[in-house]
Amino acid sequence: MQLYETITGLRQALDPQRKAGVSIGFVPTMGALHAGHLALVEASKARNDLTVCSIFVNPTQFNNPDDLARYPHTLEADCQLLEAVGCDLVFAPSVEEMYPGSPVLRLDFGELETVLEGAFRPGHFNGVGIVVSKLFNIVQPDRAYFGQKDLQQVAVVRRLIRDLGFPLELVRMPIVRETDGLAMSSRNRNLSPAERQVAPALHQALNKARAVLQEEGPIEAAKIAVNDYLQAYSAFRLEYFEVTNAETLQPVEQLQAPGATALCIAAYLGQTRLIDNLIV
Ligand code: PAJ
Repeated sequence: MQLYETITGLRQALDPQRKAGVSIGFVPTMGALHAGHLALVEASKARNDLTVCSIFVNPTQFNNPDDLARYPHTLEADCQLLEAVGCDLVFAPSVEEMYPGSPVLRLDFGELETVLEGAFRPGHFNGVGIVVSKLFNIVQPDRAYFGQKDLQQVAVVRRLIRDLGFPLELVRMPIVRETDGLAMSSRNRNLSPAERQVAPALHQALNKARAVLQEEGPIEAAKIAVNDYLQAYSAFRLEYFEVTNAETLQPVEQLQAPGATALCIAAYLGQTRLIDNLIV
């Protein structure tokens, strides 16, 4: 496995491969890798000749400076994990390499960013859109792999690919969870042992909501069930729970066709902000 820290270095490695007709799969990450990230790498390896994983904690997508400061950096351990699953190339640029000057471009995703993460993290999807576009231009992959864990991000990237005409296929992979149901996340490392113990309640709250909706209860009843469930855990501060269309992320009035509704949740557990979703 080769590690590149410069755009030129990575391009020089990839250009001849691309010209020789080698297919390239790409997994963008911010590091602090876990089995959820590695599942994306494995999916890429299964369908592409070469797999590139990027590790870059992108400052422009953090609307909260404390969140950025607390974000784990574990490059050495990450490279060991990537090597073990057979990743071919790692791209780990510095902030200066990616942003020689602050970008002034602003991306507006319209309705998509007025809801959920977009509403609670102003500017977040502008930062994601810019860094993902930049990474797509650098790597020029045939396929890019994203996790359902960040469902709204998948919708944003789908829009980006459509509107800017990136010639690549977007592949969405299911959420990888711990055995107790907690969605894997780099931010889980910031949980205290006591917080880690109650963290699966977020996923359990989604299961409660799904049960209500599948028994044909109204959306309001699902919201009450989530609120009531999390109320028992004083460490949680619910930010939102919404029942949405799984593609557009816009709120819906009732359960859609199977697979077309997403239950989306975000909550603070102490200082740590966690998100999760269920597609029903
Ligand atoms: P990061 O949070 O590191 O996630 C990288 C990719 O891994 C994303 O596509 C995310 O959805 C996926 N992922 C995270 N946890 C997962 C889990 N438990 N199961 C399955 N997939 C999971 O998302 C970002 O980084 C950044 O916004 C990025 C796209 C790299 C742009 O900076």
